[in-house]
Amino acid sequence: MIIAVDGPSGAGKSTVARILARKLGSLYIDTGAMYRALTLKALENKIPVSDEKQINGLAAAVKIDLRNNPDGSLSVMLDGRDVSLDIRQPRITRFVSDVAKIKEVREIMVKMQRELGHKKDCVLDGRDIGTVVFPDAQKKFFIDATPKVRVERRFKELKGLGQDVTINDVENDLSNRDKIDSTRQVSPLRKAEDAIYIDTSDLSIEQVVDKMLEFIK
Ligand code: DC
Repeated sequence: MIIAVDGPSGAGKSTVARILARKLGSLYIDTGAMYRALTLKALENKIPVSDEKQINGLAAAVKIDLRNNPDGSLSVMLDGRDVSLDIRQPRITRFVSDVAKIKEVREIMVKMQRELGHKKDCVLDGRDIGTVVFPDAQKKFFIDATPKVRVERRFKELKGLGQDVTINDVENDLSNRDKIDSTRQVSPLRKAEDAIYIDTSDLSIEQVVDKMLEFIK
């Protein structure tokens, strides 16, 4: 069974998708982490994100693995190296939407995601899972929250990672990414017609997961 979880940044998708996958014994695939890993590789190679030709070259050669650990965490491997923490740095967050809007990059990533998804039951989270990657997914969710709540959640998460950010930084970053992610030409963020919409603004993580499980059963 394939379960698609889409929605804007900071709505809590990855948290609920990871828990849901664990409860169902499915593989968890964080597709945003794949775009982030590629962005890290570009920055490490000093390739500007506007240089589509070189970024496409990197995307074609890169090896990205997502490892589901027994404790429920996810390790993101870039060419054999664990980059789980590096991909959450602010410099990656700043540039990832520019990398993710490149058509060829999306084609390569979508192909990888489909290969991963065909191996086993899985829960995938992203922006275009229900619309493009797996339009035939058995269950689709669109996880949303008000911009204010999304900013607060992302702020807490980054502080928890020890990052020195202000609420203003997070607000600017989210609105900038919302804009790029939902207005880009290739597979912009939008709710699939048959996706179940959940506004998580006033719900706890457990409540959201329980709601999703109810729809699945
Ligand atoms: O979910 P996230 O914040 O880790 O995603 C990072 C970026 O990648 C986000 O700005 C949008 C993009 N993305 C995408 O375009 N398509 C996906 N399936 C997942 C993420």
